[in-house]
Amino acid sequence: MTLHADVGRNRNSETKACFATHLECSKTGEHYPLGTLHGLSRVGAPLIVRYDLKALGDTLSKEDIARRPPDMWRYREFLPLGPEIEPISLGESITPLIRLPTVENSLNCAEVLVKDEGRLPTGSFKARGMAVAVSMAKSLGVKRIAIPTAGNAGSGLAAYATRAGIESFVFTPADTPEITASEIAFHGARAWRVDGLVGDCAKIVAEGTEEMGWFDLTTLKEPYRVEGKKTMGLELAEQFGWSLPDLIFFPTGGGVCLIAMWKLFHELREIGWLEGPLPRMVAVQSTGCGPIVKAFEAGKTEVEPWENVTTQIHGVRVPNPLGGSLVLDVLYQSNGFGTLVDDNAVNQMRARICAEEGLHLCPEGAACLVALEIERETGRVGPGDRVVVFNSASGLKSPMPPMTQNLHKGHEVDYSIL
Ligand SMILES: Cc1ncc(COP(=O)(O)O)c(C=O)c1O
Repeated sequence: MTLHADVGRNRNSETKACFATHLECSKTGEHYPLGTLHGLSRVGAPLIVRYDLKALGDTLSKEDIARRPPDMWRYREFLPLGPEIEPISLGESITPLIRLPTVENSLNCAEVLVKDEGRLPTGSFKARGMAVAVSMAKSLGVKRIAIPTAGNAGSGLAAYATRAGIESFVFTPADTPEITASEIAFHGARAWRVDGLVGDCAKIVAEGTEEMGWFDLTTLKEPYRVEGKKTMGLELAEQFGWSLPDLIFFPTGGGVCLIAMWKLFHELREIGWLEGPLPRMVAVQSTGCGPIVKAFEAGKTEVEPWENVTTQIHGVRVPNPLGGSLVLDVLYQSNGFGTLVDDNAVNQMRARICAEEGLHLCPEGAACLVALEIERETGRVGPGDRVVVFNSASGLKSPMPPMTQNLHKGHEVDYSIL
């Protein structure tokens, strides 16, 4: 493992072959070439990147990966960047798996691990998708990008676009947490609050494309953010010795991470790197916005828009996810399921884990632990299961209860009341 600073260093000396062969329409299977800019397919469905996995498996070994620097680019052959493309990087280090002993005890569950994505640049997992999407956009000559966002994708885009010398326009709901909204503007994006939900922001981006000439980076409207998010699954597999946990809980808005990891697990399986079964994938949503879970419970293959959004768990406030049917496929294929959680329970869980385990989760990460608690009750999670819960962002990006206790210098301190 190389320990020296690597960010910003030209890494083309470690030449990586590219095994991406083409893009494929997720609905019709129609092929599209690499090397040009793409949005949705001709029928309006997301495009999926395909690879020559046989050649990848014949060329690369797990040992090769183990010798590389500890960041997401150690998995470069699983990404669509051609060998000539220099990644736009801000230091995407491997995120840790942190065990939660008090949760294991209270839920009588063999192993509960948090994969803490809050350690990434801009404090969330969105950095992974942005690092790859912005690298690809830059290489394809994009000068201007726009995005609708619940917040974290916006700050991720703003940072990576700035790093790449690309202009960014970010539209986020008016009540996006202050820190994230400020972060977007602070990174140099043209940032706008919109008095609506992320769908209203998406409309502004879509309708402005012709006049503004920007590239639309809306979730699943371009093919490369998904590829970047596969690195979560690659890290997890490597951290588990090239096997996987029994269940993965992920807070689900657009659902890209579930789609990305499931795609990756099949790629790994096809090249023969994975021991044991694939995990059951669990979509965690809110009782105040749970369109994917509702469709899953009804046995449907398409998602209907959620009418009345009431949750304040910002990351899961996506009432009409574009890739809803792809997420449902993942749940069905993996023998997984979906769980709805309540905002109050989430806030209590966040406070408890912070105080009891020393780990500051974002509300979306805490939502996954509430879901785990519910599913231990229902029995969908058994006592012997190894569970990984994703903390999708740093807890520091969301508001905390204020600290209001003051002492006055010069006054005698009554130590007995501290
Ligand atoms: C902290 C956090 N968690 C989870 C999500 C949901 O991610 P996705 O929309 O890819 O399902 C988001 C999306 O904004 C988020 O910001």
